[in-house]
Amino acid sequence: MKHFINIRDFSYNTLRIILLDAKKRKLKRRNLKTLEPDKDQPLKGNLLIQMFEKSSLRTRLSFYLAIRQLGGSALTLRPDELHLSKGGESISDTAKILSTYGDIFMLRTDNEKKLINFKEHLSIPLINGLSPKSHPAQILSDIFTIEEITNKNISKLNICWIGDSNNVLNSLIEASIKFSFSLKIGCPKKYLPSLEVLEMIKKNSHRIKIFNNPKDAIKKADVVLTDKVISMNDKVNKKKKIKDFSAFKINSKLMSLSKNAFLLHCLPRGNEITDEVFYSAKSKVWQQALNRVHVQKSILLFCLNKLR
Ligand code: CP
Ligand code: NVA
Repeated sequence: MKHFINIRDFSYNTLRIILLDAKKRKLKRRNLKTLEPDKDQPLKGNLLIQMFEKSSLRTRLSFYLAIRQLGGSALTLRPDELHLSKGGESISDTAKILSTYGDIFMLRTDNEKKLINFKEHLSIPLINGLSPKSHPAQILSDIFTIEEITNKNISKLNICWIGDSNNVLNSLIEASIKFSFSLKIGCPKKYLPSLEVLEMIKKNSHRIKIFNNPKDAIKKADVVLTDKVISMNDKVNKKKKIKDFSAFKINSKLMSLSKNAFLLHCLPRGNEITDEVFYSAKSKVWQQALNRVHVQKSILLFCLNKLR
């Protein structure tokens, strides 16, 4: 069974095959309308069931478009409508039913264990659409966008992350290890990645450096990524955390330290970036959001053994 749970679960070659397929498919459907399927309709007759235990705009829409463009269909579940959330039905029975009706399941959850439990009981592939610890579809898609914009292999680029040590950064760190790109992280000392992630960096990479000063992190960057300081369901003193990150806000002055860098943000955004930078020519966030569709199509194909 091919699940898509974390970037670290895959070989470099597999991730490359997914990206290459996305590139070819994107090119081929240049003149097609949003819901016109790809000519080959490789997932005709397939049903994607997606469930969101947390809010989502992009992941919800991009997975919907992805399966539709591949010739299949999607059904989106709200957890409060299922027996599962009220405790009346187990994960194992829910997973059995999902596997009976559907062909692939995408889950956004606030509970890492739930991913593991679903994985154990599903007999269809599971895709992680964001968990407390990772957001792999976002980051694989961001690599696609970075290579699309620069026309370079990401291993030749200097990637910078300014912001919180959250799920998106964890996946970016895993990607840096797999794709061997330089990653400079700028975050306050108090908000370092978890010990587990620091250990993974120590064991696997010399190309990831952490700075407690955003200016040091951003110097010589080709791409700057950031995300909200307060993630969904972040149980912290929000005012204090935002204050702790005040020197890490991305403004024109900070961006000017890496002359040619462009900016990516998975969205939604908070106050970690000024409007001036967010709406500037350096910001490629809309292209980034749209590419989620293309890369997730290839993730779906990979999971369903349809990648040629
Ligand atoms: N970037 C992202 O996953 O956006 P949503 O939370 O809107 O899905
Ligand atoms: N780090 C953010 C990402 C949202 C797409 C969150 O988890 O809320």
